[in-house]
Amino acid sequence: MTPVLLSARSAALLLTDWRAGTDAPAYEALSDALRVLVIDGRIPQGVRLPAERGLAAALHVSRTTVANAYSRLRSDGFVVSVRGSGSVVRLPAGLIGRPDPERLGGVVDDDLLDLRKAALHSAPGIAEAVERAMRHVPAALAGIGYDTVGDPGLRAAIASRYTDRGLPTDPSQVVVTIGAQHAIALLARVLVRRGDAVLVESPTYPHAHEAFRDAGGRLVGVPVDARTEWDATALETTLRRTAPAVAYVMPELHNPTGATMSASTRELLLSVAASTGTTVIADETMGELRIEGEPSVPLAARAGSADASVVMIGSADKVFWGGLRIGWIRASPELLQRLLLARPTGDLGTPVLDQLVARELVPRTEAVLEARREYLRQGRDDVVGALRARLPEWDVPSPAGGLTTWVGLGRPVSSALVLAARSEGVVLASGGVFGPDGGFERFLRVPFTMPPADRVRLVDVLERSWARIGGDAAGVRGSLAAVV
Ligand SMILES: Cc1ncc(COP(=O)(O)O)c(C=O)c1O
Repeated sequence: MTPVLLSARSAALLLTDWRAGTDAPAYEALSDALRVLVIDGRIPQGVRLPAERGLAAALHVSRTTVANAYSRLRSDGFVVSVRGSGSVVRLPAGLIGRPDPERLGGVVDDDLLDLRKAALHSAPGIAEAVERAMRHVPAALAGIGYDTVGDPGLRAAIASRYTDRGLPTDPSQVVVTIGAQHAIALLARVLVRRGDAVLVESPTYPHAHEAFRDAGGRLVGVPVDARTEWDATALETTLRRTAPAVAYVMPELHNPTGATMSASTRELLLSVAASTGTTVIADETMGELRIEGEPSVPLAARAGSADASVVMIGSADKVFWGGLRIGWIRASPELLQRLLLARPTGDLGTPVLDQLVARELVPRTEAVLEARREYLRQGRDDVVGALRARLPEWDVPSPAGGLTTWVGLGRPVSSALVLAARSEGVVLASGGVFGPDGGFERFLRVPFTMPPADRVRLVDVLERSWARIGGDAAGVRGSLAAVV
């Protein structure tokens, strides 16, 4: 099979800031930066790196620098030369030998604190919900079990939750999916044609931008910041200039920044999207996890006046438990029809038994959130407080909800920091993972979902790792070889 080529332009986009924060020779800095991209999975195994000459031109360095960087990657086992195919990316045996818990579905080493997924342990009451759900199993077993639409009781419960939150909803407007991720991928497949512009926030939830790119979308980013929130001017001009097929946003407790979209930005988004014919997808997977402040009404509740088309995505997985794998889409009956027609090539329905459990849980959302809120408040205050005290040069926002804080490191060293922490068993996603085009090397997403003892470990490891990579001793990073 011919390896997929990474173009010099795409490589240069992924390599933003590759020289910042290091005094190592250029070829070492470049091979370090490429190595981090491979370890993070942002350059997948089997991809062919750009030709030396092309990458040298794109990065404004000499061809020798690129040749030496590739040669270093080759001797470290990150690249192999394939006859006729150039330099092809490989993960060295050592890294493959230790299974990547993320890629292998959550098999986590006892000693590893894996924080690449921001998620909570299960909420209290799940086992009881399973027992109550058992009562409905005999009736379910009488059917054939292939369910692409969703259990009627669960759809009614989801519709009623939207209605309670200010968005009147009929169960016929809801389809149950296998988690919110499935909802995103299905919508991407149905709404995006190859070459269509897709507006995403920058930073954004990584598996969303991957899904839109996989569907052939051309991503256009709009900045969101934990403190200054959405760049409304960029939002408007990007919408008008690119007339995207889809705008994927997280207006309530955005992942990773924790920001919530103001009423005026919501109005602007909806009115411009209506004029450009853009379908707005509002992903509220994190949206219910509010620690303080008033929740906003779901985005679609405002859509009527602007005549915009708004699709809502929700999930039971963050509120109750990730193992449930239950999400949903609220959309117009016409769009739901298109989704249901497209669905069977990807999957043949949501597991029925999981839906029966979710049907018991969704009506209890408020009570569960009450308990979650206290736990999250404690986690946030512990982690944010300790980071502010121990790493005062960082900018550590205290978000009004969600599961993470989007920390400004002040220097473009997120990957180096992540590698240093990984060598002590704490696995985080570096800032670049959240950039639709890389970047964000000055940021780190730090979850506050873990139990108290792990919060202490996390902050200890971050403090030591920061010191190891040169920390506040500006400009000293050296080579990353020592920490991989
Ligand atoms: C914004 C966002 N959307 C969707 C998902 C996927 O959620 P689910 O577990 O329901 O598939 C996540 C998971 O982290 C998320 O953060």
